Amino acid sequence: MAFRSSSDSVGVVGEFCAYRRASLFYGRNEIDKFPDGKCGLRCAYHGWKYDHDGNCIEMPNEPPTSKFKDRIKLKSY
Ligand code: FES
Repeated sequence: MAFRSSSDSVGVVGEFCAYRRASLFYGRNEIDKFPDGKCGLRCAYHGWKYDHDGNCIEMPNEPPTSKFKDRIKLKSY
Protein backbone atom coordinates (compact mmCIF):
# COMPACT_ATOMS: atom_id res chain seq x y z
CA MET A 1 0.00 0.00 0.00
CA ALA A 2 1.53 3.32 -1.03
CA PHE A 3 0.35 6.72 0.15
CA ARG A 4 1.60 10.26 0.52
CA SER A 5 0.98 11.85 3.90
CA SER A 6 0.03 15.48 4.35
CA SER A 7 3.58 16.16 5.57
CA ASP A 8 4.68 15.05 2.07
CA SER A 9 6.27 11.80 3.25
CA VAL A 10 5.74 8.75 1.07
CA GLY A 11 4.74 5.58 2.87
CA VAL A 12 4.94 2.10 1.38
CA VAL A 13 3.55 -0.31 3.93
CA GLY A 14 1.95 -3.74 4.01
CA GLU A 15 -1.63 -3.74 2.75
CA PHE A 16 -3.31 -5.36 5.74
CA CYS A 17 -3.98 -3.86 9.15
CA ALA A 18 -2.23 -5.54 12.07
CA TYR A 19 -5.46 -5.89 14.04
CA ARG A 20 -8.06 -7.77 11.97
CA ARG A 21 -6.27 -7.70 8.64
CA ALA A 22 -8.65 -5.27 6.95
CA SER A 23 -7.26 -3.87 3.74
CA LEU A 24 -5.77 -0.41 4.16
CA PHE A 25 -6.84 0.27 0.57
CA TYR A 26 -10.08 1.43 2.22
CA GLY A 27 -8.20 3.44 4.86
CA ARG A 28 -8.46 7.18 5.25
CA ASN A 29 -5.38 9.32 4.59
CA GLU A 30 -5.68 11.90 7.36
CA ILE A 31 -4.09 15.32 7.31
CA ASP A 32 -1.90 16.39 10.21
CA LYS A 33 -4.57 18.59 11.78
CA PHE A 34 -7.17 15.83 12.14
CA PRO A 35 -7.89 15.09 15.01
CA ASP A 36 -4.67 14.32 16.88
CA GLY A 37 -2.12 16.39 14.95
CA LYS A 38 -0.46 13.38 13.32
CA CYS A 39 -0.85 12.55 9.67
CA GLY A 40 -1.17 8.96 8.58
CA LEU A 41 -3.36 6.24 7.22
CA ARG A 42 -6.31 5.23 9.40
CA CYS A 43 -7.83 1.80 9.04
CA ALA A 44 -11.51 2.03 8.17
CA TYR A 45 -12.53 -0.91 10.35
CA HIS A 46 -11.55 -0.11 13.98
CA GLY A 47 -9.55 3.04 13.36
CA TRP A 48 -5.97 2.11 14.09
CA LYS A 49 -3.71 4.71 12.51
CA TYR A 50 -0.27 4.20 10.92
CA ASP A 51 2.45 6.64 9.95
CA HIS A 52 4.50 6.49 6.73
CA ASP A 53 6.97 4.09 8.37
CA GLY A 54 4.21 1.64 9.31
CA ASN A 55 4.27 2.48 13.03
CA CYS A 56 0.91 2.38 14.75
CA ILE A 57 0.41 5.89 16.12
CA GLU A 58 -3.15 5.71 17.43
CA MET A 59 -5.59 3.12 18.73
CA PRO A 60 -8.99 4.61 19.51
CA ASN A 61 -10.09 1.42 21.26
CA GLU A 62 -7.26 1.56 23.83
CA PRO A 63 -7.03 3.88 26.88
CA PRO A 64 -4.90 7.01 26.25
CA THR A 65 -2.25 5.76 28.68
CA SER A 66 -1.86 2.41 26.90
CA LYS A 67 1.55 1.71 25.32
CA PHE A 68 0.29 -1.23 23.27
CA LYS A 69 0.46 0.77 20.03
CA ASP A 70 4.23 1.13 20.47
CA ARG A 71 4.59 -2.61 19.83
CA ILE A 72 2.62 -2.62 16.57
CA LYS A 73 4.32 -2.02 13.24
CA LEU A 74 3.40 -2.87 9.67
CA LYS A 75 6.01 -4.15 7.28
CA SER A 76 7.36 -1.08 5.50
CA TYR A 77 9.67 -0.45 2.59
S1 FES B 1 -8.77 -4.07 11.23
FE1 FES B 1 -7.65 -2.26 11.23
S2 FES B 1 -8.20 -1.28 13.05
FE2 FES B 1 -9.38 -3.07 13.02
